[in-house]
Amino acid sequence: MSDRKKVTVNTLKRMKEKGEKIVCLTAYDYSTAAMLDESGVDLLLVGDSAGMVVAGYDSTLPISMDEMVFITKWVSRAKPKALLIADMPFGSYQPDISTAIKNATRFIQEGGADGVKIEGGKRSAETARALVEIGIPVMGHIGMTPQSVNEFGGYKVKGKTDESHDALIDDAKELQDAGVFSIVLEAVKTKTGTDITRAVDIPTIGIGAGPECDGQILVINDLIGSYNGFEPNFVRRYADVGNTIREAVKKFSGDVKSGDYPSADESYE
Ligand code: KIV
Repeated sequence: MSDRKKVTVNTLKRMKEKGEKIVCLTAYDYSTAAMLDESGVDLLLVGDSAGMVVAGYDSTLPISMDEMVFITKWVSRAKPKALLIADMPFGSYQPDISTAIKNATRFIQEGGADGVKIEGGKRSAETARALVEIGIPVMGHIGMTPQSVNEFGGYKVKGKTDESHDALIDDAKELQDAGVFSIVLEAVKTKTGTDITRAVDIPTIGIGAGPECDGQILVINDLIGSYNGFEPNFVRRYADVGNTIREAVKKFSGDVKSGDYPSADESYE
């Protein structure tokens, strides 16, 4: 049991003020969430990336509210000290504000999350404001927002032109005005990540947004090497769990076939 204090939205704000980097990771199940929390991660995101790395969909678009609430419950059972944020899936907040409120409330009441994340800048600002007004902490997400992959025509880096750079800064400011506690910046040019980080008082969390962001986030399966699908340029692999599992299973298989497993000690004689 760790004795560290629960991380809140205020903790993250103070970290930005002090220039202390914020460490964020995704988690989709109880035991991984517990391990990441014991390792001192500041924020755990039940990302809709679960749709790809856990559920095996081709994009984040198909994962449903019910599936996301289900896995958020698994993660919240680890009772993380990290701030626990649930990603609102595609279609769960875009239709209208009352749908967004109903679904965000499910993440808090049923899922046990501390807050939610929604994608989009200006066009999501009104929704963010409505959620914040009823007491739900909201994390923004701009740049290469995966739920808009079809609109973008693929996973493309943002902030490449002056127009795109300036529009992203405006998006970040509008989200800040709407009351979001932090903004994820995904796949944007380093200059855009840096300029947004300087333009807002709330913490920016980068994923492919350069080193100047107030914190960084990665998909846990990318970090540990347990997902072989799409691997963007910003991923750094810290472990090769995929091959560790394959090798362990090959050894188990050999032991079963040769009769070496189970031994007398591993049996009830
Ligand atoms: O779904 C997710 O995992 C995310 C992070 C990559 C920011 O949105």
